[in-house]
Amino acid sequence: MTAETAPEFVELTALDGPTRDTVGSEWWRTAVIYQIYPRSFQDSTGSGVGDLPGITSRLPALADLGIDAIWLSPFFRSPQKDAGYDVSDYCNVDPLFGTLADFDALLATAHSLGLKVIADMVPNHTSDQHEWFKAALAAPEGSPERDRYMFRDGKGPNGDIEPNNWESVFGGSMWKRVTRADGTPGQWFLHIFDESQPDLNWENEWVRDQFFGILRFWLDRGVDGFRVDVAHGMIKEAGLPDYTPPSDSASMGGAPVVPAPGTDLTPAIIDPNLEPDPPYWGQPGVHEIWRGWHDVLAEYAGDRVLCAEAWVNPLTKTALWVRPDEMNQAFNFDYMFTQWKAKRLRRVIKDSLAAFMGVGAPSTWVLSNHDVVRHATRLALTKDAPPQGAGIGPNSPGKPDRALGLRRARAATALMLALPGSSYVYQGEELGLPEDMELPDSARQDPTWFRTHGEKYGRDGCRVPIPWEANKPAYGFNSTGASWLPQPDDWAPYARDSQAGIPGSTLELYRSALKLRRAHGLGLGAVTWLTGYGKDVVAFSNGGVTVICNTGKIAVELPVGDILLSSEAITGGALPTDTTVWLTS
Ligand code: NOJ
Repeated sequence: MTAETAPEFVELTALDGPTRDTVGSEWWRTAVIYQIYPRSFQDSTGSGVGDLPGITSRLPALADLGIDAIWLSPFFRSPQKDAGYDVSDYCNVDPLFGTLADFDALLATAHSLGLKVIADMVPNHTSDQHEWFKAALAAPEGSPERDRYMFRDGKGPNGDIEPNNWESVFGGSMWKRVTRADGTPGQWFLHIFDESQPDLNWENEWVRDQFFGILRFWLDRGVDGFRVDVAHGMIKEAGLPDYTPPSDSASMGGAPVVPAPGTDLTPAIIDPNLEPDPPYWGQPGVHEIWRGWHDVLAEYAGDRVLCAEAWVNPLTKTALWVRPDEMNQAFNFDYMFTQWKAKRLRRVIKDSLAAFMGVGAPSTWVLSNHDVVRHATRLALTKDAPPQGAGIGPNSPGKPDRALGLRRARAATALMLALPGSSYVYQGEELGLPEDMELPDSARQDPTWFRTHGEKYGRDGCRVPIPWEANKPAYGFNSTGASWLPQPDDWAPYARDSQAGIPGSTLELYRSALKLRRAHGLGLGAVTWLTGYGKDVVAFSNGGVTVICNTGKIAVELPVGDILLSSEAITGGALPTDTTVWLTS
């Protein structure tokens, strides 16, 4: 390979990140937050499903990794129709995961290790087994109990046509008709997701009051904040007008799909002239709700945090969720779905910093979570990737090259962790885990798979229990070998104990990056773009650290400086393809 230094792309914008003055004790502005998907993290009972005591037992490993906080996907009482995102009691722990005492123990251990704990609040919908919904079904049409949910009469002379044409995120209609006590068909209720997840009516004051109580219940126990599920969906446009989404729109919301390689995304994936928001996403009425939640958190000491799952476009709109009197963070899904191309990366970083700083908030950065194809696989897809949530499986086109995906994932992570703001890390990505594309159909559990009759694989491939010890049952996930989703036979090299202490392993790359990020205050810093490295390179300095990421095929000559971190081995003063390096400037 020859080194290349053409100064093609010039963009000299210095964007200030949060400064020490604005940070104060607001830990979340710079935090690296590790997402735990409880059912797949660590199983203490051998049931095949992870649990809270299992998580507690592994917290020292996370503290050792160097993260600042954990976000726990839902562990509340739930029939588990959507892996806990169907809550039947917001103030209790599902027996599958343990007890409230187990949660208290987890929290105490996390705090003693210096880790904050963020719970996952699911306010857009309940389970159909929640007492509120049971009461709504038992109550007459037009009753206060019914008004807590989105019940409507059907259309047509017999009311047997859905109230509108909305399609569920998981496939099929967004409406289900109920049967009256006398056996005759009754009203319809709205469910953006599965029919077991009826949407609450957030125009209803009683509903709002209930959630103030639920937030206080967990804040009183000591949680440091909440990730808020479907924060963009809670208010629907008045009149519930018909809406047909563009055929390629992402399933969780109006966010961009992963574009086909080579697609020209200029001017940006965040073009303000994109499709208007659907009538069930991103409606302005949500902001009043967040102001109320903000005030509840403000009653508590210790900088509690609200992080929005808000699938809206453009980023300047996402930033409205994190104005000073609303939430603190919003997931940056535009960043997550940016193609592995320097031009796109520079643009989304620049736009993200500008949008979030415009409202005085930190940007977040995220590459993987429990709803998307893991980035160690996604970044190597050679064909159009499916919309978010649709997943990939054995028959998906464009089989990714695993080594290429891992190499790019490592480079992408090293880039992400050098950016000012807060980063989210999804369990297993620190091991370089790929998406499991070979799950047998008989093992699949995601409602998307069932509601689309197998047309979409869904999200199970990124939810497989993670490997801890190469030579133990279920790779150390538990002691029995049981696993709610089968683990692939070839995951031993990804196990934590296969990588710990091994220079160059993905685990050690994460550990080093997190340590250096902290030592150099990168989360607090600012991006100053550097030029002269060619169009395929993202280069900037943050504080005293020069960050160079080569997404191109040609090696790039490195400037003088000591290498602090490199996502691949570097020889001969040149930065190879798909590699990120941190240097002292
Ligand atoms: C978003 C969550 O991340 C996803 O897993 C869940 O299925 C939906 N919201 C519905 O709660």
